[in-house]
Amino acid sequence: MIYIVFAHPYPSQSRANRTLLEALRKLAGVEVCSLYDRYPDFDIDVPAEQAALERAQLVVWMHPVFWYSVPGLLKHWFDKVLTFGWAYGAGGAALHGKDCLWVTTTGGSADAYTSEGIHQRPFADFTRPVEETAIFCGMKWQPPCILHGVHDMDQAALEAQSQQLRQRLEAWLAARGEDASPLEPER
Ligand SMILES: Cc1cc2nc3c(=O)[nH]c(=O)nc-3n(C[C@H](O)[C@H](O)[C@H](O)COP(=O)(O)O)c2cc1C
Repeated sequence: MIYIVFAHPYPSQSRANRTLLEALRKLAGVEVCSLYDRYPDFDIDVPAEQAALERAQLVVWMHPVFWYSVPGLLKHWFDKVLTFGWAYGAGGAALHGKDCLWVTTTGGSADAYTSEGIHQRPFADFTRPVEETAIFCGMKWQPPCILHGVHDMDQAALEAQSQQLRQRLEAWLAARGEDASPLEPER
């Protein structure tokens, strides 16, 4: 029902994304693919990924922001998995109508993403390629979950944000008549 595509190159060194993922992992019907664990050589199993996406009604892309964008393996996943005739183009309707939720974290604070800040622009100026990727594939773009300044957030604040996200997905499941109790294995 929910497919989480988790893209952190060093999952064991992650604090923010790992905390977010742990909060969601045990929800009912959640399937997690930690891309860098599963495809360390970037050799993505495209049929398996497409099958997981077909099973899902909500697709979650979760990762730290790297250079105003997604980590390289998630970009590669977009390139390989979202194929013509399957995700877009003639006959490419596999993802139509599915919800897409972007969950991402930045080192930069909210103030850093202003005209006076070090990144000079609002973060929204950098989000369009990811958003449009989902929309181009016919998915319904959900308000993203973006955590800024995660290095300055203590663990309690991170946990609180993670619980809010969990509650949001519980509500999403409840709206579809799904019980939010566990569990699908990680792949
Ligand atoms: C290669 C690299 C590029 C990064 N680029 C950005 C960036 O463009 N903007 C930003 O705000 N933070 C950037 N960061 C900081 C990460 O977003 C931050 O370390 C991450 O969100 C922390 O999450 P984690 O605890 O799950 O690792 C970058 C970090 C690395 C290692």
